[in-house]
Amino acid sequence: MKKNRIPFFGNQREYIQYREELLAIVDQVMSTGQMLQSQYVDEFEDRIARFVGREYAVSVNSCTDALFFALRALGIGEGDEVLVTNFSFVASASAIVRTGARPVFVDIDPYTLNMDLQKAAEKVSRTTRALVWVHLYGLMGNVSEILDFARRYGLLVVEDAAQALGAEFQGVRAGGVGDVSCISFDPTKVVSAPGSGGVVLTDEERIASKVRSFRYHGKGVQGTFDELGYNSQMSSIAAAVLAQKLIWQQDWLERRRAIAAYYMAQLADLPLQLPAEIPGSLHIYHKFVLRSSRRDELRQFLQDQGVETKIHYALPLTEQPVFNSYIDPGAMTAYPVSYDAARTVLSLPIHPYLQEAEVHFVADTIKAFFEKVE
Ligand SMILES: Cc1ncc(COP(=O)(O)O)c(C=O)c1O
Repeated sequence: MKKNRIPFFGNQREYIQYREELLAIVDQVMSTGQMLQSQYVDEFEDRIARFVGREYAVSVNSCTDALFFALRALGIGEGDEVLVTNFSFVASASAIVRTGARPVFVDIDPYTLNMDLQKAAEKVSRTTRALVWVHLYGLMGNVSEILDFARRYGLLVVEDAAQALGAEFQGVRAGGVGDVSCISFDPTKVVSAPGSGGVVLTDEERIASKVRSFRYHGKGVQGTFDELGYNSQMSSIAAAVLAQKLIWQQDWLERRRAIAAYYMAQLADLPLQLPAEIPGSLHIYHKFVLRSSRRDELRQFLQDQGVETKIHYALPLTEQPVFNSYIDPGAMTAYPVSYDAARTVLSLPIHPYLQEAEVHFVADTIKAFFEKVE
């Protein structure tokens, strides 16, 4: 096999498959001349709100902004603490820092790799106002437990569903839980914009209108600029493309789940940890992440055979310099599970454009690795 014959991302293949439809959408939008604040943006917001089961959707330029605006709309800022997993993309925690609040990092559960609520309980203080819950890799957490926890401690819930579009827990879709939710449409996500994109979802009008104001310079309903805002709009092209992709995504989800089921069956007897499953939770396999103490050797072996893999995430957030001033000394001993995850996780290609033979090749190559080393 040649190097990177099996690519980790499917964006180029997706474009080849849908080129005509996508170009027609771009042409239609551009011919109207309305590149921002158009009917396409309104239509997309209606569609995603209905898909997720929320009253309001406000599109923005990224999920990073969505999280920041969501926290700000909840009134979180200086003097507040917000609980967040220690094992996620940087934006889950940097959004908290941007509001002026303090991120309080919590170690993760060794099976789900999501925030460990027992450990979270130990970190609740008088100033804790909220928790940011990440549905890591596209697996929704146990919503009842998360909401019970928040209720017990009087915390607001911000759902970081960046990776979880289409995931469900007992029939409730990711993005439909808690006070406010955020989803990403960046090019690495299961439904991707031509560029960056994100959305804030909520059932509260007050939060939705705050976010609408933040995304355009703090403009209020009277047309005046009432508070400091930003420019974080979704383009009409992105909105129109995403509205169409929301229809296609059901097929993509089924394909990703079929690939995951194949990997699960083929790799079941190998000395590695397979992705978590939670009863009642529909995993969308945004990422298919296995764990091995020989992760780096396995990754190299796959690379040598032309299979591209990634690591999500190579460092816990407490190791990221941007958060240095929020970390207690001796952080490593306080977060053993996050550190262990960072050393062992490996993400396999799982996009819906993988051919059957490629999926088989990935699984066979992993088996060949363990035959060689065991
Ligand atoms: C868990 C999580 N939160 C937030 C983000 C930020 O999303 P965006 O890239 O749309 O700003 C990402 C994206 O990678 C993510 O994976």
